Amino acid sequence: MFLGIDLGTSACKLLLIDAKGKVLASVSKTYPVNYFNQNWAEQNPEDWWKGVKEGIEDIMKGVDRSQLRSISFSGQMHGLVILDKENNVIRPAILWCDQRTQKECDYLNKDIGTHKMLNWTGNIALTGFTAPKLFWVKNNEPENFKKINKVLLPKDYIAFKLSGEFSSDVSDASGTVYFDVKKRKYSSEMIELIGLKSDSFPKVYESYEAVGKILPELASEMNLPSSVLIVAGAGDQAAGAVGTGAVEEGIISVALGTSGVVFAPNDAFTLDKKHALHSFAHANGQWHQMGVILSAASCLKWWVEDVNGTKDYDLLLSEAEKVPAGSERLFFVPYLIGERTPHNDPNAKGCFIGLNVSHKRGNMTRAVLEGVAFALRDTLELLKESGISAKEIIISGGGSKGKIWNQIVADVFSSNVKTLVSNEGPAYGAALLAAVGAGEFSSVKEACSSCVNYSENFTPDSAKVVDYNRYYEVYRSLYDTLKSTFAKISAL
Ligand code: XUL
Repeated sequence: MFLGIDLGTSACKLLLIDAKGKVLASVSKTYPVNYFNQNWAEQNPEDWWKGVKEGIEDIMKGVDRSQLRSISFSGQMHGLVILDKENNVIRPAILWCDQRTQKECDYLNKDIGTHKMLNWTGNIALTGFTAPKLFWVKNNEPENFKKINKVLLPKDYIAFKLSGEFSSDVSDASGTVYFDVKKRKYSSEMIELIGLKSDSFPKVYESYEAVGKILPELASEMNLPSSVLIVAGAGDQAAGAVGTGAVEEGIISVALGTSGVVFAPNDAFTLDKKHALHSFAHANGQWHQMGVILSAASCLKWWVEDVNGTKDYDLLLSEAEKVPAGSERLFFVPYLIGERTPHNDPNAKGCFIGLNVSHKRGNMTRAVLEGVAFALRDTLELLKESGISAKEIIISGGGSKGKIWNQIVADVFSSNVKTLVSNEGPAYGAALLAAVGAGEFSSVKEACSSCVNYSENFTPDSAKVVDYNRYYEVYRSLYDTLKSTFAKISAL
């Protein structure tokens, strides 16, 4: 038996699988996020640990605990966890969605320069990434900065609590911008610039490598075998891609979660000179590129639940299904909390454009679905420019549960789109990494080909593809047209 732990933002999800990849049990434990100052977000790492411990206790009830062989992780990426000499958390973790570091990003991208950032790390600094957060602590909380003995990412804190080892993995470390993604080791230039000793940063492993064993005292407290291996795990996007079988070039994973992701495995490190895509290490020992849109399924949730005041998704989606492709010249721009890929603009806003008196709710619902698909296509186009062609697209996440959105993505992308039999998300990838780390499979690719199964296939409708190509050209021009207006609105 293998345990995958997905340390998410609103909850941790634990998933137990057997050696054939069959899901035996799953458990979720929620914890709070502290949102304040408009766009700051923090969490208490002790809350994660409490959730994980309770989750392990719950999921092990009713199974033979002696059969547990390994534990691995999928983690919310980019979060900053800092520990003092006694291994106490110095301040709450600053999360991936926290936007306080614009000044620090300007320092890194403008004063140091994007050329050096790309050379040293493969990526530029974005407000959510980890290095700018360290600079923020240095600039704003110097007394806390002085206390730093270890810098960890969220899931690495849990690996430490379980094993006593300070570790990280290549995929999660890629999102720090103090890691040289191409060489799969820390950037000595960035570590020097940050001004911390190199041993403040944990040893980095491949995602499927064991970092140690469960602490003996914890094993006896939780009544688990002392042989349980702790396997490094991956950032949530790389772990999610493992769970969907996106571990070979040409197999693209599209996640319609709260945020939306287009994830493309690369055989070799590939730099996006326009730095619109993230170039990160993958959990399979290779690399990947991805684009992240900040609002995807959350746009539909906002539209159905907050604006229409209902939870009747079926009703609204059935209205949308009756509307022709293109929503009769209505567009939705999905930048409800600013946008990351491709614009990297915290000021970007959501809007409906093209409204006329004949539009009904169905047009607006369909426009929301289409706007998100167009925003994801922006990443697909960047990937094409980068030389990646999509042989297969696998769609997952909450938004992929209704058929209409999958068909819209197939038509907008002009590509076959497949769904998964088990849509368990990144926790499934984490459990597969645990199995590889314990030697059950010889590689991540072997684990995926043995365990990941596909369900439905959505083929593009050629007439709709033509329509959507025309609509996409207009959608694409909207951000440039509105950019200065977005900034003016933010400055009001
Ligand atoms: C990836 C990213 C998110 C977070 C939270 O770059 O920001 O996937 O890891 O889920």
